[in-house]
Amino acid sequence: MKAQILTVLRNTEGYVSGQELCRNLGVSRTAVWKVIGKLRQEGYVIDAVPNKGYCLKQIPDILTKEQLTSLINTEWIAREIQSFEELDSTNTYAKQIADSVPDGTLVVAEVQNQGKGSKGRGWESKGGYGIWMSLILKPNILPPDASKLTLVAALSTARACRQYTQLPVQIKWPNDIVCDGKKLCGILTEMSAELNYVNHIVLGIGINVNSMDFSQELQERATSLYLETGREWNRGLLIREIMNCFEEDYRTFLKNSSLEELLDEYIAYSVTLGSPIQVLDRNGSYDGTAININKDGHLVVRKSDGSLQTVFADEVSVRGVYGYV
Ligand code: BTN
Repeated sequence: MKAQILTVLRNTEGYVSGQELCRNLGVSRTAVWKVIGKLRQEGYVIDAVPNKGYCLKQIPDILTKEQLTSLINTEWIAREIQSFEELDSTNTYAKQIADSVPDGTLVVAEVQNQGKGSKGRGWESKGGYGIWMSLILKPNILPPDASKLTLVAALSTARACRQYTQLPVQIKWPNDIVCDGKKLCGILTEMSAELNYVNHIVLGIGINVNSMDFSQELQERATSLYLETGREWNRGLLIREIMNCFEEDYRTFLKNSSLEELLDEYIAYSVTLGSPIQVLDRNGSYDGTAININKDGHLVVRKSDGSLQTVFADEVSVRGVYGYV
């Protein structure tokens, strides 16, 4: 009922009468009053005026299931939400429950005590300051096409961050969102598949939203929306924006498991293209210039000797010659 009352309050301009709430939800005035009390305790600012009713003035920066359910207005992505105070990692948990939950289920945690980064690294995931979430997807695609989904998620997240904060964030191929030469967001995609069949894909997205500082190790390379803009941002509203963008882009991608329709926008956001880079693969490293991203999501690099090399996301690390980007 909390989520329902929140949704009505959010969708009403001005005041909604207690009577109307009772009628719509089929509950007593006392029940409505109790829920309003609980919501206020959680930090919602709700005005109550006799003969007018209730009006939602401000929402807190919390990621409860009720908060997210009342905010997210997608058609099928994140219609099922699981929210936790603490998890080891939203990706690890999402993989455990993937077979028993619907396609598009969203898992969110305030704190991750063993957040996972790419290439076996950790991911700093303190409580209250960031978005640590995983989407469980069950697409009808072939396993080799799955890595393209990471680029889709990067595009959706970048566009959502731009729309919500107006910051000109960019994408460091294949899936880091960066701002001002520092990393704002990372994406970790994990898959369970047979040779020709995808069981599920877990798309983990970590965004530094209101982080005010980072460990010494990360300081040089990491940033947050707060550090870039000087103000705090509501994480729930950003998640809503990301889910809307992702639903749209994912639908486009699923038409024929292709990035083709999304590539122009991805390229427009790319900080990697045209830049001198260093590619680190199993055999060592080489320098070159990133000149294109092809329809399979691979990076095309012109090596210093003039030859062209196609670089696959899961096989290499790409570093800017002059730093992280
Ligand atoms: C990277 O190293 O760039 C990938 C970072 C991915 C972090 C996110 S936070 C939510 C999800 N759960 C995890 O344990 N990792 C991903």
